[in-house]
Amino acid sequence: MSIVDLAALGESFTRDPYPVYARLRERGPVHRIRMPEGAEAWLVVGYEAGRAALADPRLSKDWNRASPALGIDAIAAGPHMLRVDPPDHTRLRRLVAREFTARRVEQLAPRVRQTAGELVDAMLAAPDGRVDLVEALSFPLPISVICDLLGVPDLDRHSFRAWSNDALGSTDAGRREAAATAMARYLARLVDDKRRHRGDDLMSALIHGREEDGDTLSHEELLGMAWLLLVAGHETTVNLVSNGVLALLTHPEQLAALRADPSRIDTAVEEMLRYDGPVETPTYRFTTEPLTIGGTTVPGGGALVLVALADANRDPGRFPDPDRFDITRDARGHVAFGHGIHYCLGAPLARLEARIALGTLLERCGSLALDIHPAAITWRQGMLIRGPRGLPVRVSP
Ligand code: HEM
Repeated sequence: MSIVDLAALGESFTRDPYPVYARLRERGPVHRIRMPEGAEAWLVVGYEAGRAALADPRLSKDWNRASPALGIDAIAAGPHMLRVDPPDHTRLRRLVAREFTARRVEQLAPRVRQTAGELVDAMLAAPDGRVDLVEALSFPLPISVICDLLGVPDLDRHSFRAWSNDALGSTDAGRREAAATAMARYLARLVDDKRRHRGDDLMSALIHGREEDGDTLSHEELLGMAWLLLVAGHETTVNLVSNGVLALLTHPEQLAALRADPSRIDTAVEEMLRYDGPVETPTYRFTTEPLTIGGTTVPGGGALVLVALADANRDPGRFPDPDRFDITRDARGHVAFGHGIHYCLGAPLARLEARIALGTLLERCGSLALDIHPAAITWRQGMLIRGPRGLPVRVSP
């Protein structure tokens, strides 16, 4: 099978990958590609094939199973949920699962509301009402929530964000590696510090173990867990808020419908996740044996497999008229949070944050408009994360 060189498509693919995925889907569910990040991979497109691949135990999340021929750089982080298979995965997930249930997360709502209110008020205080939504709301809200939860209120957000963005999305391998190393070093210091100053927070609980289960994380696992939760806080909800606001501002009738009936916020958030979700293709999977998808055999031995969530959510076989943004549609069943045993642990938290961020924004800003032509927006690099680097808007009460 010939290689589809997505890297050669450059900026146009980063800006709007959807038509490229759709053309591939029309030809079949699996394709050999070269990624903008450089590696060769097998890309699964379409809803049914995508979901099946996400739940397929023959695809491993263990980087030790990756074929050396891939030449992909291991990000310097300890073992974490998205890097291991059962039984290790089951154990790591169980240690934190109770902190992220919908009921538990709902208790954070008053604090999230207060932070969102302060951030939106600060936006409204900007002298000419012109602000970058990413800087002003999409980024600071989720990061303060996850830092609070973990108990690292004084995280160096500026550096951590730069490292996290580079480690996950840069198309330059040297930058990816340098950022990952700097981040790992910083986290090790943070964990050491936390070890000495125990608090009533998740990180302290993980360090000192849960007496009731008698299970503790090794130092490496602890670093991996902190890395995963902080990176999830930096890279995902941020783009749900930004992509969601962008969709509303480029579809004024949908914005008007939501303003007319704010109780539609939950279905609107699901549609935002479906229409332009933050994770374009989730984390790497490696074949443990050959597998045949739609008549094409992907070799075993650690071939890299990516699932285009962005395309599964725009498959007309599952969502009628999929390129239409419609906050009243039933978007349930989308795979923006993945599927199977690695289904997003933070989904209830992400939903809560998005609901509150968008609700507060619309409630307090009587006028909200884009301050940039959509075609001029610069998008995050790489195939993992989808979101604008900045989103200039104009706001007034
Ligand atoms: C809108 C925001 C978010 C989106 C779209 C999102 C998406 C995803 C996706 C697609 C996966 C599966 C990855 C894969 O199978 O390769 C995942 C896993 C995960 N997410 Fe999220 N996520 C979001 C927010 C969060 C937040 C706020 C947290 C913080 C707690 C979080 C923590 C995790 C964890 C720990 C996993 C790994 C679960 C496992 O392997 O069992 N996510 N997320």
